[in-house]
Amino acid sequence: MKKGIIAGIALLGAVAMAATGCSGGSSAASGGSKGDGVVTVGFAQTGSESGWRSANTESMKDAFSAKNGFKLIFNAADNKPENQIAAVRNFINQGVDAIVIAPVVTTGWDDVLKEAKDANIPVILEDRTIDGSSDLYKAWIGDDFKKEGETAGTWAKQTLGDKATNMVVLEGTTGSAPAIDRATGFDDAIKGSQIKKLDSQTGNFTRADGKTVMEGFLQKYGKSINLLFAQNDDMGLGALDAIKAAGLTPGKDIQIVTIDATHDGLQAAANGEFNYVVECNPLLGPTVAKTVKDVLAGKDVEKKQTAVDQSFTPEQAKTALPDRKY
Ligand code: AHR
Repeated sequence: MKKGIIAGIALLGAVAMAATGCSGGSSAASGGSKGDGVVTVGFAQTGSESGWRSANTESMKDAFSAKNGFKLIFNAADNKPENQIAAVRNFINQGVDAIVIAPVVTTGWDDVLKEAKDANIPVILEDRTIDGSSDLYKAWIGDDFKKEGETAGTWAKQTLGDKATNMVVLEGTTGSAPAIDRATGFDDAIKGSQIKKLDSQTGNFTRADGKTVMEGFLQKYGKSINLLFAQNDDMGLGALDAIKAAGLTPGKDIQIVTIDATHDGLQAAANGEFNYVVECNPLLGPTVAKTVKDVLAGKDVEKKQTAVDQSFTPEQAKTALPDRKY
């Protein structure tokens, strides 16, 4: 198993983070603005598209629990940017103490984040990044998507790059930070290899769309496909059904590399159906909750807090599975 720069999971399940830069905190008291000691937080989640997302939602709900001094107002936007912006506006109108956003897409945030700033409500981004001024949020806590793509691409180049290889790609949600950054990282890593991209289409990070899009690829390119890069486990798992239905053996006829390393993804690797899996740690809740409390207490917080990820061969997946937390 490849070790990250900063190792270890802190006590209480907080994910290990590498952090850079500092940001001043808000002047609000850490006990919440209503004087009852409870901190009210609005969390605008993307939706429920994947196993990764379920684990992330659970981690956030656990961390922002009543026993930890929070009242969490949760919204899942069904991966629709307009729903998510409306949810954030609703949080502002309710006068929450802080807002946490896992942005569906990178664009379109300036107006609503300015409104939050004008209302003196601090915003913390979790999981995904946005385009636009970093003055509009206090901190970002998440995974390095470009590095994940690079790790997947490096494996592909080392494994298949010296022979003619036809690749298809299942992309995540169009316009989302992970879809953009993983593609960039992967494409950079395979430069100079003999891997040729036949096609690349969105499967929206879901199993159902991963299956449908892979069926289309198989109809169009048949047995000439040697490699699938699925930008998350769920799309790769959906594609397995399509590959088997076409009479091909996943992991052999078509080599598969995916990102997330959920329990189901690692199980597919252990079964020999995925050849390599790159981790994207969803257990961000404890770090986000601590950052919210620090910001509200007026403390300086690290502006960019990056989780440390690993990657797994099938053998390493077998070893990791019994203790996998998501
Ligand atoms: O933003 C992280 C990505 O979003 C995960 O890789 C994917 O599974 C999720 O839906």
